[in-house]
Amino acid sequence: MVENVASELAELESEDFYLLSGVEQGMRFSEWVAREKLPDFADLTPENVDYRLDRCERRGLIERKTIQYEGYRLTFEGYDALALHTFAERGTVEAVGAPLGVGKESDVYEVRSYTSLALKFHREGYTEFREVNREREYTADREHVSWLYTARKAAKREHAALETLYPDVSVPRPVDHNRHAVVMERIDGVELGRTALEPEQVRPVLDLVLGEMAGAYDAGYVHADMSEYNVFVTEAGVVVFDWPQAVPTDHANARELLERDVENVVGYFRRKYPNRVEAVDVRALADAIEAGESVAVSEFFEE
Ligand SMILES: Nc1ncnc2c1ncn2[C@@H]1O[C@H](COP(=O)(O)OP(=O)(O)O)[C@@H](O)[C@H]1O
Ligand SMILES: [Mg+2]
Repeated sequence: MVENVASELAELESEDFYLLSGVEQGMRFSEWVAREKLPDFADLTPENVDYRLDRCERRGLIERKTIQYEGYRLTFEGYDALALHTFAERGTVEAVGAPLGVGKESDVYEVRSYTSLALKFHREGYTEFREVNREREYTADREHVSWLYTARKAAKREHAALETLYPDVSVPRPVDHNRHAVVMERIDGVELGRTALEPEQVRPVLDLVLGEMAGAYDAGYVHADMSEYNVFVTEAGVVVFDWPQAVPTDHANARELLERDVENVVGYFRRKYPNRVEAVDVRALADAIEAGESVAVSEFFEE
């Protein structure tokens, strides 16, 4: 867990981070990095590598396996430690606090610097990677695609989307990004799926969500994972978050994904508030979003 990493981070020495980033570099070429390659990757003497491997393995930051050779790889705690170390050096993060949420593909923590922020560690590829690799003893290096790469790519995409959308669209303000991690504004709100809206708030809140989707479209993105779990309701309105899978509006599947997003959101409101929201012409609504027209939901109720 990251709380441990945060307290252990203080115990780690700068050469431990050389070792960790040496393992990280080696993982670009093979899943398990051979011990004898580490002095080069980490720029440490072989004796120092042995000493650091032992320290890092005891702290759960790397794991070891002997196949045809003795190899090491980063655990996700080890990768978290590297990103956190970078944020600490940049002054983006000074302390790690409580978990804010555990998604299916992320761990999100409250962090502090000059203000309270949210740190999202991406885990895309990690679960899947575990499944696949439990089955086989050895992955040929040429087939090797590290989960580090998948998670890093997701974080990069999420950060880029936030940079484009903020502040025109109501999304968390992006603050920093490194490896598989994104630092952003911490939103003080309740997920839509865990909110019981007053009857008279239902349509206005649905209109706000559709309005943000239209704003995002206008800025060039379809969210592509819209649901009641990725929208916060706050004092000020709504905030749409969780953007790593967003696609550009000129993407071949953009229209299909937009319709699915509209259907997910409207469908949720219909199920939860059947007396307030009638059947909606999803395609007409998607047309209006594409055309940059008004998206007040009641205009799209079916006859
Ligand atoms: N900026 C934020 N501020 C506060 N809580 C957040 C923030 N971003 C995410 N969370 C919390 O973490 C959970 C998982 O985040 P999310 O971005 O949806 O990742 P996932 O891809 O795993 O669903 C959310 O459901 C939410 O409770
Ligand atoms: Mg989510």
